[in-house]
Amino acid sequence: MGIEGNGMNFGDTSMIDPFGRAISYLRVSVTDRCDFRCTYCMAEDMTFLPKRDLLSLEELDRLCTVFIEKGVKKLRLTGGEPLVRKNIMHLVRDLSRHIESGALEELTLTTNGSQLQRFAAELAECGVRRINVSLDTLDPAKFKQITRWGDISKVMAGIDAAQAAGLKIKINAVALKGFNDYEIPGMLRWAHGRGMDMTVIETMPMGEIDEDRTDQYLPLSLLRAQLEREFTFADIPYKTGGPARYVEVAETGGRLGFITPMTHNFCESCNRVRLTCTGTLYMCLGQDDAADLRAALRASEGNELLSNAIDEAIGRKPKGHDFVIDRRTNRPSVSRHMSVTGG
Ligand code: GTP
Ligand code: 5AD
Ligand code: SF4
Repeated sequence: MGIEGNGMNFGDTSMIDPFGRAISYLRVSVTDRCDFRCTYCMAEDMTFLPKRDLLSLEELDRLCTVFIEKGVKKLRLTGGEPLVRKNIMHLVRDLSRHIESGALEELTLTTNGSQLQRFAAELAECGVRRINVSLDTLDPAKFKQITRWGDISKVMAGIDAAQAAGLKIKINAVALKGFNDYEIPGMLRWAHGRGMDMTVIETMPMGEIDEDRTDQYLPLSLLRAQLEREFTFADIPYKTGGPARYVEVAETGGRLGFITPMTHNFCESCNRVRLTCTGTLYMCLGQDDAADLRAALRASEGNELLSNAIDEAIGRKPKGHDFVIDRRTNRPSVSRHMSVTGG
């Protein structure tokens, strides 16, 4: 059964935006740092936030808790790479109390997998049931090329450890023209063969990178048509609370999700906001507007100011993103990198 992420929560305290969308999904980027440098995500030479600007893990917990009190049911830790933040398991363990109490329906994370071997068992102990692992190729040389710094054998060991710990895994692959398009069928068979779902994602123009995005961008309508020569897809209503639309693949019995920010906008059903590790709240992945929650957090020990600041921010959540990738628009649609908000 899927987890219904949007709506269903119209109690007095819930957060409703100007377009009537209930906010029930919080994505928290616990660090902007990463041990990889994926070419579509980062430049090789990145300047990260100074450590002194970070919220402490206790402050992050307090912020998340206020969001949960205000109606968040699904919480995803992201980065950068969330598992490279020092002592991150303290935060996960603290947040797990909301799973135990039933206030939170899902506590999860999106990871590049490099640290999973170390953390998988503890994540499962803390009530994490399902994680998303970003993996764009199974070919070790190509993996090195796309991540610049990554080692695929560590990711594979991490996936093994996560499955051994009983975590369900979804593989996220960004579809990149001429890079992994011909490999997706093989990845799909591999993922489904191991009982993992998979989603493919259109690359989004966020932040300056060292390459031309027009060369990388592959519309998923094209990829789907290509895949349908080999596989039989049936659209299914399965939902995970995120933007993916799923099909069931007859040949493998597994699920494949399509995330199409470029070709098919899913903003009308948006249920989410994003918090960064400095306490900035982005109401939309594709817009620059943001609210500073750190000031409200630190201004008083009670949570009233913070709660008001959150309401004010949700009150100006924009309708959606308008990403463009073409040769004439060779600047990113938003200047910050994906690693600031974790997607
Ligand atoms: P599930 O819980 O499995 O549905 O996860 P999810 O799709 O919500 O999260 P994940 O971290 O796996 O994100 C997959 C991709 O979807 C990432 O590249 C995100 O950037 C993208 N994504 C998630 N939410 C949004 C959104 O609101 N707008 C856009 N444009 N992309 C999004
Ligand atoms: N466009 C689309 N997806 C991206 N990701 C990182 N940068 C981009 C981009 N520019 C993906 C990662 C990961 C998720 C959090 O976001 O591969 O799966
Ligand atoms: Fe790191 Fe993920 Fe960006 Fe790759 S896509 S550099 S793994 S944050």
